[in-house]
Amino acid sequence: MEALGIDIGGSGIKGAPVDLARGELTQPRLRIPTPVPAKPKTVTEVVVQIVEHFAWTGPVGVTFPGVVVDGITMSAANVDESWIGVDTQTMFAKATGLPVVVLNDADAAGLAEMAVGAAREKPGVVLVLTFGTGIGSALFVDGHLVPNTELGHLEIRGKDAEKRASDHARESRQLSWEKWATRVEEYLQHVEALFSPSLIIIGGGVSKKSEKFLPLVKLRTPIVPATLQNEAGIVGAAMAAAALP
Ligand code: BGC
Repeated sequence: MEALGIDIGGSGIKGAPVDLARGELTQPRLRIPTPVPAKPKTVTEVVVQIVEHFAWTGPVGVTFPGVVVDGITMSAANVDESWIGVDTQTMFAKATGLPVVVLNDADAAGLAEMAVGAAREKPGVVLVLTFGTGIGSALFVDGHLVPNTELGHLEIRGKDAEKRASDHARESRQLSWEKWATRVEEYLQHVEALFSPSLIIIGGGVSKKSEKFLPLVKLRTPIVPATLQNEAGIVGAAMAAAALP
């Protein structure tokens, strides 16, 4: 079975059909730059464009970089505030004429890692943390997702953790890998103290360069890069769509 996965990110909106059993894209992904400003109307147009590009007629899963409860987008740390309170799932379903599920981006990445990636068959408390524009989190307990955990907004040194330790913070402040790794380590030690996970998986675009910083991060908990890297969002979104009627 296949479903279409669409990943809404700060700079690009990416989509592709996914083979759900293998967790692999079946066609090259399409990436369209995120409209500026990224408001509900303009982003919906891009979602429709991706559906049309693949001439897709089946279930669609879409990620959103904020809290999503029952299809309603409830926070907007790194996107336009006009998303708050919108029934985004119904809006996308109406615009595409297809069954749609909308879920948090890190939760989607986590679902993919749990099904076919680094978290596969890992029992206990497993955390998938994505480092990009913000820091996203997906918390699993014996393979079950606890959605919308928002651990990127823990407070470290009086600041939102993602403002200090996201990949965006590294790039915009031109931090060296060593300096950034110190911040990531401080953040992860805090997370470790609160959750005592048995495994931490690092996702997001920066997971491709994990050899530059992961060896510098000292924790009690085993810590590994995500297997699906930047495709995890698309794959996880499609997997969530598989449950649609
Ligand atoms: C948002 C999360 C999101 C993360 C990664 C945070 O700012 O609050 O919902 O998962 O960024 O995009």
